[in-house]
Amino acid sequence: MDMDIGWKNRALINLSALRDNIRTIRRLAPKSGVMAVIKANAYGHDMQIVARELSCRVDGFAVASIEEGLSLRKVDNELPVIILSGLCDPSQLVSCADGQLDPVIHSLHQVDWIKCHAGRPLDVWLKFNSGMNRLGMNHDDFIHAYRVLEASPCTASIGMMSHFAIAEDLKDDFTRRQISEFNQVAAGLGGKRSIANSAGIMCWPDSHLEWVRPGLMLYGISPLEGETANYGLRPVMELQAKIISLQNLKQGDTIGYGRTYVTARPMRIANLGIGYGDGYFRTVPDSAYVIIHNRKAPIVGRISMDSMTVDVSNIKQAGIGDSAVLWGESPSVAQVAGWAGTNAYEVLCKLSARVPREIMDS
Ligand SMILES: Cc1ncc(COP(=O)(O)O)c(C=O)c1O
Repeated sequence: MDMDIGWKNRALINLSALRDNIRTIRRLAPKSGVMAVIKANAYGHDMQIVARELSCRVDGFAVASIEEGLSLRKVDNELPVIILSGLCDPSQLVSCADGQLDPVIHSLHQVDWIKCHAGRPLDVWLKFNSGMNRLGMNHDDFIHAYRVLEASPCTASIGMMSHFAIAEDLKDDFTRRQISEFNQVAAGLGGKRSIANSAGIMCWPDSHLEWVRPGLMLYGISPLEGETANYGLRPVMELQAKIISLQNLKQGDTIGYGRTYVTARPMRIANLGIGYGDGYFRTVPDSAYVIIHNRKAPIVGRISMDSMTVDVSNIKQAGIGDSAVLWGESPSVAQVAGWAGTNAYEVLCKLSARVPREIMDS
């Protein structure tokens, strides 16, 4: 049995919020199958925790690699698992067959590999490049690949997919063009289609088709800007750190490496044992804060690898062992992303393995 060693930092993973977000996705796309995107350790939330909770609530999972797919199979043995980055080597076909993983076929060389596959016939997803210009085939190659795979005994079924480049921008007509080009190439071929990511689910009902592929919104974060655009999503992760030390400083004292912060007045500061080694961002501006006892505690001085310092001069009750919220409801992951000059995806994915993920349900 594991000994309870208390906690210093933790990421609470709220299963109730996860379930609510799935309900929101089902409400927005009631006729589509839901393929939950849980690559990159479920956007940092812990793939095992998320997959366990979702396995009876979604219709499939999507991960990036065979390795992720095989590790997911330890939790779920039933649902389809789609490998978004596809095959990097023909030998991976064996892993797909053994692990019942459905690779995305995005290039003609992979079609050649599949033709020589001798194992169990595979369910595959053929990827069309509708303008993202990352992975996927052009119109003629796509049709050719479809016809070859259709005639091959090595494939059991063929899904068709594409990916949006800018669906979060409702004013940009590019998404409409992507939907139309995808539908055109798929027409007449037959089979299930999928193009909608979170932004597609939220903003482009025409894109829902047979399968949607939510990632970010599953975790309670909207890809759209502004709080009003969050459709009732609930953040699944709350990152917490404990106060491990308190100090009273005089006016003119400095804080942390480089002595970049000079106190303008006497100050009471708290040290949190969390830093960029845990995935917090070294580059946040002076306006960044954490929440302690429901009040803002501004971050002061440089973020270190294992610690950061916050101003608790106005939070009299702050004491050793009290917890600070670094992101969750407030500040939101999107807010932290804004401070760090990145997006919510990167904030979540960067949370390091050093921070234990703990389940909560409320
Ligand atoms: C191919 C593919 N589909 C779906 C998604 C999910 O996107 P989002 O997290 O914006 O919903 C991703 C995420 O990167 C992806 O790469």
